[in-house]
Amino acid sequence: MSEPIRFYFRGDVHEVHGVAPTQTVLQHLREDLHCTGTKEGCAEGDCGACTVVVGTLEDGELQMKAVNACIQFTPTLDGKVLFTVEDLQQADGALHPVQQALVECHGSQCGFCTPGFAMSLWGMYLNQEGRAPTRCQIDDALSGNLCRCTGYRPIIDAARRMGELPPVAFDRAALAETLRGLQRDAGTVYGFAGQTFHAPRTLDELVAARAAHPEAVLLAGSTDVGLWVTKQMRVLADIIYLGHVAELKTVREAGGFLEIGAGVTLEDAYGAVCRHYPGELGELRQRFASLPIRHAGTLGGNVANGSPIGDSMPWLIALGSSIVLRGPDGERTLALEDFYLGYQVKDLRAGEVVAAVRVPLPRPGVVLRTYKLAKRFDQDISAVCAAFAFTLDDGIVRDARIAFGGMAATPKRAAQAEGALRGRAWDEAALDEAMAALARDYAPLSDMRASSGYRMKAAQNLLRRYWYETRRDDPLPAAALNAFAQA
Ligand SMILES: Cc1cc2nc3c(=O)[nH]c(=O)nc-3n(C[C@H](O)[C@H](O)[C@H](O)COP(=O)(O)OP(=O)(O)OC[C@H]3O[C@@H](n4cnc5c(N)ncnc54)[C@H](O)[C@@H]3O)c2cc1C
Ligand code: FES
Ligand code: FES
Repeated sequence: MSEPIRFYFRGDVHEVHGVAPTQTVLQHLREDLHCTGTKEGCAEGDCGACTVVVGTLEDGELQMKAVNACIQFTPTLDGKVLFTVEDLQQADGALHPVQQALVECHGSQCGFCTPGFAMSLWGMYLNQEGRAPTRCQIDDALSGNLCRCTGYRPIIDAARRMGELPPVAFDRAALAETLRGLQRDAGTVYGFAGQTFHAPRTLDELVAARAAHPEAVLLAGSTDVGLWVTKQMRVLADIIYLGHVAELKTVREAGGFLEIGAGVTLEDAYGAVCRHYPGELGELRQRFASLPIRHAGTLGGNVANGSPIGDSMPWLIALGSSIVLRGPDGERTLALEDFYLGYQVKDLRAGEVVAAVRVPLPRPGVVLRTYKLAKRFDQDISAVCAAFAFTLDDGIVRDARIAFGGMAATPKRAAQAEGALRGRAWDEAALDEAMAALARDYAPLSDMRASSGYRMKAAQNLLRRYWYETRRDDPLPAAALNAFAQA
């Protein structure tokens, strides 16, 4: 039986039925509710014109996060609260400090991007709780918003100014209490016009739903799947949503590794690994998509999608991470590199889902670095993404693990280059041999992001950079490496 979608909106519980399960939140706002403050620019999560703030209960606590309404489906709002730019103005008509600061600092010209910037700024305003943001925090909060008019400087000024204006209270406790009343004890099914949206609450319910609907699309953060609908115009018949399965959202440390549930958002997953690898992964975290995409997208989705140009797989594979799969026959674990069998072909058996990723904790002698090459700093897909994790012992390479994205049809290790290094002194002669061996490991494609020749040259030079940073005699100072960890 189809149950309506219920979420909190404009001070009331809002019920939705009679819309396609793949209707986007943006379409619902603009076309059904006629709330046109939220804009559509790209419909693919890139420009931020559609930014809204969604509140969820996580472990009983209210979490308020800016996300892209254009790629989130309306049923994912069940049990949550939705805020749009129209919610910012105060009851007496006064502008919110975020809006006032944008006005005072001339942060808006044509205004098309402004609602999205306002919501990203509001998300930061709420989470800063009165603390002045650093420039790095401002840049990160605005990493998913594009403006073609202002040149950004006035918007950055507004981000600083808003905290100096008289604050506006936000009653988190009352909102959390309201959301508690909207939570469901068991899984739900929402359906319309032959499409169904299953929302299990437990891992067992998820596995049962998967067994009953083997053709269904698994939906996590929707930052890949959303685009199948908005850009590829695919019609998805059955969807199984993972976003309410609490067991998939845990992070725990055990037996020398960090186990990250497949449903943990990219922002939280990278937050957890960066506590152990701050200098090594801090920059990649900041350069992975944008904050709204990281608020929605999951590590499980990145790994399960397994794009050859995805950013998590190279460092996960270089570190020797494994993947936990859960299906009707129970649980199995395999090395992440063995999960990828070919382009978009994975070792995922019928009825299985990715349940977690296990990331080894730092070990003595293992030196990890990862490098992303893309045309923009933020919000850009890698042309090449490299990760190196060598076990170095008194200048000798005891073990070498090298993994690249963007160099093959899958995220892939460099067996020949690794072989050229194992047991050798970590000197320039060994480096030169390993760089040459990379040409035997990979035959990269040319595409809109980079030519084959560029990719190979860049990959070889990234290995050289790793050598410059880790060689025993005269390593490059770690200052640049640590800049992001300190920011
Ligand atoms: C604007 C933009 C920028 C981006 N930038 C980057 C970037 O810089 N680097 C990068 O690597 N990626 C990037 N991406 C891609 C995307 O954000 C990531 O791949 C993300 O991790 C996907 O996670 P998700 O939870 O949104 O997955 P979804 O879109 O929900 O699902 C992705 C795929 O994984 C499957 N799936 C999801 N969870 C599971 C599970 N637990 N078990 C089995 N299958 C599952 C789904 O069925 C689907 O096939 C970007 C995307 C956008 C829109
Ligand atoms: S419309 Fe561009 S990010 Fe949503
Ligand atoms: S003010 Fe015109 S796009 Fe930003």
